[in-house]
Amino acid sequence: DNRTGRRVFDLRAQSGETEFRPGRKTPTAGFNGNYLGPTLRAKRGEKVEVRIRNGLDEASTVHWHGMHLPARMDGGPHRMIGPGGSWSPHWTVGQPAATLWYHPHPHGETESQVRRGLAGMFLVDDDRSERLALPRRYGVDDLPVIVQDVRFDGAKLAFGHKLMQNVGFLGDRTMVNGTLDPYAVVHDERVRLRLLNASTARTYRFGFTDGRGFALVGTDGGLLGRPAAMNRIQLSPGERAEIVVRMRPGDRTVLRSYPQGNYGDAWQSRFNGGDDTFDVLQLRAADTLRPSPSLPSRLAGQELPDPADAVRERYFELRKSGINGRKMAMDRIDETVTRGTTEVWTVHNGNGMPHNFHIHDVQFRIVSVNGRKPPVQLRGRKDTVFLPNGTTMKLALRFNGGPEFADPGTPYMFHCHLLYHEDGGMMGQFVVV
Ligand code: C2O
Ligand code: CU
Ligand code: CU
Repeated sequence: DNRTGRRVFDLRAQSGETEFRPGRKTPTAGFNGNYLGPTLRAKRGEKVEVRIRNGLDEASTVHWHGMHLPARMDGGPHRMIGPGGSWSPHWTVGQPAATLWYHPHPHGETESQVRRGLAGMFLVDDDRSERLALPRRYGVDDLPVIVQDVRFDGAKLAFGHKLMQNVGFLGDRTMVNGTLDPYAVVHDERVRLRLLNASTARTYRFGFTDGRGFALVGTDGGLLGRPAAMNRIQLSPGERAEIVVRMRPGDRTVLRSYPQGNYGDAWQSRFNGGDDTFDVLQLRAADTLRPSPSLPSRLAGQELPDPADAVRERYFELRKSGINGRKMAMDRIDETVTRGTTEVWTVHNGNGMPHNFHIHDVQFRIVSVNGRKPPVQLRGRKDTVFLPNGTTMKLALRFNGGPEFADPGTPYMFHCHLLYHEDGGMMGQFVVV
C-alpha cells in the first residue's frame, strides 16, 4: 500500500465444501478458499496489515501464532469478528526469520474452527535468512508441510472424540496441506520441509522410513545457531520445525510419524495416539537433481533470553481442568508482567496425561527439562512445547517491545495447545504493562 507503506494481505474466512476423496464432498472452511489459507510472508522490519473479513456464519478471530506484536493486534479471544464483520490488525515485523502460523482463537470454539480447515502459515524472512545457503524457493525446494489428522465418517469429516481420548479428537489418517496420500516431486539435492503440526490433539514423531537422517535448522521461532543432525523430531500441536533432507536421483522416501516413546505412560500412549504410526508425506526425487550448496555451519544468532536476567519467577501447574487450579475466565487477568523484563516460568505436568504449553507474544528459551539441559531440538526459539506427564520445564522469556506493547487492558494468552483442553478452559491471561 503506497499510502501507508504497509504490506497488505487480504484474508476472508469462508465455509464451503472440499472433495478430499473423489466424489465425496464434506463441509469445510478456509481462508480465501474452502480449506486452509494462503501462506503469508513478510520480512523483519516490514509493516504489515491484514484485512480480515469474516464470511462465516459464526463469530471468529485470527491469531498470529508465534508473532511478537502488541496485544491489541494478537487476535485472541477478546478480538472477536462477528459474521460479516471485518478487522484489520497491523504491526511491524520485529523478529528473526521463522515459520509461524495463523488460526482462529474464539474462546471455546477453537478446536471446531481449526478442524474445519481454518489455518495457514506465516513466514518471516530477515536479511540474514535471505543470504543463507538454505533451500528457499517456496514450493520448489522449500516446502510448507501442514500436518493434520482426520477421520472420515462416510463422506464427511468426523469430529467426535472417542470415549477414552482425553487429549481430544484423534484421526486415523493424516493429510499434508489438505491432501490425502500426499507426495512431493523434488528436483533439488536438498529440500527444506517446514513442518507445522496443525492437528488439534495429535503429537507426531517424524523420521524417514529408509533410516536417512536430516538436519534440523529451525524450531518454532527461528533458525538454530547451527544445523543439528537428527533422525527423529517430535512435534505436538502448534509446534514447528524446519528440516533439510538430502535426496539422490530417483530416490523415494517417506516421512513417517513413529510411536512417541515419551508419552507419559502406556495407557495414555495406547488410547491417546502415542503408539500410532502414520505415513505422512512421500518424497520422490527426479532422475536428475539440481545441485544444492552444502549447509552453512552457522545459521543465525538466536536472540534467546538469558535466565540470569530474570527479575521474577512464576509457576504453572498444568491440569486439564485449568492452569494453577483455575479455569480460563475472560474477565480475569492471571499474570501481570513488566515490559522490557525477563522472567523464568516453571511449568509442571503431573496430570497423568500429555499436555503442551504455548505462550503468546514471546519466543522463549527452554532452560531445563526435569533439571537437565534440554535436547538439541528444544534449544532454539520456542513458543510451544510438549510436556508429557511427569515433566517440569524452566522457560526464560523476555517481554520486549516499544511503548505500544504496554497495554494493561488487553491480555495475551498462555495455554495448552491441545485445542480440546484449551477450549475446555486450560488457558490463562497475562498483560504486559
Ligand atoms: Cu496457536 Cu493461543 O494459539
Ligand atoms: Cu499463539
Ligand atoms: Cu492439555
